[in-house]
Amino acid sequence: MKTVVVGGNGQLGSDVVRAFSDNGDEVAALTHDDIEIADRESVANKLRQLRPDIVVNTAAMHHVENCESQPEKAFAINALGARNLATVCRDMGSVLMHVSTDYVFDGNKRRPYEEEDPPCPLNVYGNTKLAGEYFIRSTLHKHFVLRTSAIYGKSPCRAKRGLNFIQLMLKLAKERDEVRVVDSEFVTPTSTTELARQMVVLSRSDSYGLYHATAEGACSWFEFAREIFALTGTKVNLKIAGPNEFPAKVPRPSYSVLENRALKSLGLNQFKPWQVGLCEYLQRGAGIPL
Ligand SMILES: NC(=O)c1ccc[n+]([C@@H]2O[C@H](COP(=O)([O-])OP(=O)(O)OC[C@H]3O[C@@H](n4cnc5c(N)ncnc54)[C@H](OP(=O)(O)O)[C@@H]3O)[C@@H](O)[C@H]2O)c1
Repeated sequence: MKTVVVGGNGQLGSDVVRAFSDNGDEVAALTHDDIEIADRESVANKLRQLRPDIVVNTAAMHHVENCESQPEKAFAINALGARNLATVCRDMGSVLMHVSTDYVFDGNKRRPYEEEDPPCPLNVYGNTKLAGEYFIRSTLHKHFVLRTSAIYGKSPCRAKRGLNFIQLMLKLAKERDEVRVVDSEFVTPTSTTELARQMVVLSRSDSYGLYHATAEGACSWFEFAREIFALTGTKVNLKIAGPNEFPAKVPRPSYSVLENRALKSLGLNQFKPWQVGLCEYLQRGAGIPL
């Protein structure tokens, strides 16, 4: 298979390139210098030149505060960018695999969200990603849309810069006597290595549609931090942050746990409990002896 990965040097994109290459695909990794998804001509020129069987889009504007302050730009990339990819893929007969987010939900369900649950985004990021999903679904039959949650990987997240949550916790534990983390937001930390492997498996099927794709289980950020410290044997005074200690500038769902119902019903779910993915990441990626 000839596979193009858009956002090929991103946190997820780097692992997607690796996973599809390991699977024997001929992979072209496109960076932002190679393609601008908000620009229809750029998308058409680049993809027609490469003529892939499958396009995997990991590119997005996903810094939540930046999306809120620049809604037109966020819509141009997350919604119209997805539409541009879908239109060109449809015209070429290619498959489009696209990454979306748990932030399409408002969090009020308080039980894991399934694919059929009605979305209700709370912020610009979630709204523009949801619009991107709809554009894809209404443009191109041969699509996979995967919603994921709280991803972490070996390559840094380019939009958020700096350290991922795991690295940040380990750094703070070294620098401070006490680390304080919120216990009011529930997610499923998902390793990009695991997600990329799942994407390869799903891409070999023709069961097109919408998929929830996260590790199994759920935790608050506080519980995530506690597991990081337990697995690394880090001695630290970990405390629950007060309700107003880290005020969110943009509304976010306080519960965005996803159930991989569609993957499970096909017998294709590859994900392990989030603690297992974290343990593997720590052994492999972070280089910290356990
Ligand atoms: N991070 C999370 O916790 C999380 C949770 C749920 C879903 N997601 C979704 O997961 C996906 C991957 O996230 P990530 O953390 O891997 O992101 P990332 O590290 O920021 O990588 C995004 C990649 O896309 C490129 N890009 C950005 N805007 C582009 C544009 N207009 N045209 C072409 N390329 C562009 C970036 O290049 P430059 O950096 O050079 O601009 C970068 O290579 C996104 O779709 C995001 O919405 C993320």
